[in-house]
Amino acid sequence: MNPQHVLVTGGSGFIAGHCILHLLEQGHVVRATIRSLAKEATARGVLRDAGMVHADRLSFVAADLLDDDGWAQAMAGMDIVLHVASPVQPGRVAGRGRGDRSRARRHVARAARGARGAGGKAGRPDLRVPRRGLGTSA
Ligand SMILES: NC(=O)c1ccc[n+]([C@@H]2O[C@H](COP(=O)([O-])OP(=O)(O)OC[C@H]3O[C@@H](n4cnc5c(N)ncnc54)[C@H](OP(=O)(O)O)[C@@H]3O)[C@@H](O)[C@H]2O)c1
Repeated sequence: MNPQHVLVTGGSGFIAGHCILHLLEQGHVVRATIRSLAKEATARGVLRDAGMVHADRLSFVAADLLDDDGWAQAMAGMDIVLHVASPVQPGRVAGRGRGDRSRARRHVARAARGARGAGGKAGRPDLRVPRRGLGTSA
């Protein structure tokens, strides 16, 4: 497969980490979102310990699912978006639920629709939100 530019949301997460490792192994260029760039070194360390290859093809950008800021820049030039981050983790975040999840989905979907392909082949990225098996509650 030709190398794709893939945005993975929630780059510090468990599922996202596996996606990133696999995408890099396949030769793709990966941009991952993270809420704070202060966490980038830790996230990279976890990926490195897990056997990351082509680390130079991985970059991070800051974006919070509950805020519009950063998503347009995150999407720019991407061919595909794997939206696996979630603002709601069962048992971990009290008082959050459907409202946060739909707000998060709207921000990402709006940014994907609005993205223009500065480098991306498709002009606007293909948004993939896995719902079953490897699903996200985002
Ligand atoms: N793990 C599984 O076996 C499994 C199975 C089925 C479905 N899922 C679903 O898959 C999704 C990911 O699971 P996971 O195990 O990878 O969870 P995880 O390790 O807790 O990762 C969640 C990710 O979401 C990010 N995040 C949380 N709130 C955010 C926000 N407001 N804005 C941007 N990013 C935010 C976290 O970033 P921070 O580091 O900044 O908190 C983290 O990177 C969840 O929806 C989960 O329910 C998981």
